[in-house]
Amino acid sequence: MKPKMNLPGILVIHGPNLNMLGKREPEIYGATTLDEVNAGLGEKGQSLGLQVDTFQSNHEGAIVDRIQAALGCYQGLIINPAAFTHTSIAIRDALLLLKIPIVEIHLSNIYKREPFRHKSMIADIALGQISGMGVFGYTLALEALANVVKPVDNA
Ligand code: DQA
Repeated sequence: MKPKMNLPGILVIHGPNLNMLGKREPEIYGATTLDEVNAGLGEKGQSLGLQVDTFQSNHEGAIVDRIQAALGCYQGLIINPAAFTHTSIAIRDALLLLKIPIVEIHLSNIYKREPFRHKSMIADIALGQISGMGVFGYTLALEALANVVKPVDNA
């Protein structure tokens, strides 16, 4: 028998250069690899009753395509747009399509860094932003979404 309730789905999107986590400026971004981040998200999601899917791309258009494909499929979204945070109206516009709670996350505290990192194209359309907590920020983001997403009625 089909279960009446599906787990709420959360999509996690990692932007450019985050595939190099662990190797890339570890003094800023830490030693944890992206595979380890994603494995941790899967485990944390399970403990919170959430189904977590992850996606990484170095290409703005591929991220826009993935967001468009997510329409109607997820109850919440976590995004670290990386450098596109500061530039991408295209990613912002795609996110507006979804009408689901979005948590923007940055490993580093973008406000303690160069002035060009202080501007986010996403922050004002997000439920909230987590910045500067390293990989622990992903755990916090999932907890924040667990608090607001509703169970999926599959009846
Ligand atoms: C980042 C901060 C961005 O400014 C930078 O371009 C990144 C990573 C972070 O997680 O701290 O690639 O989003």
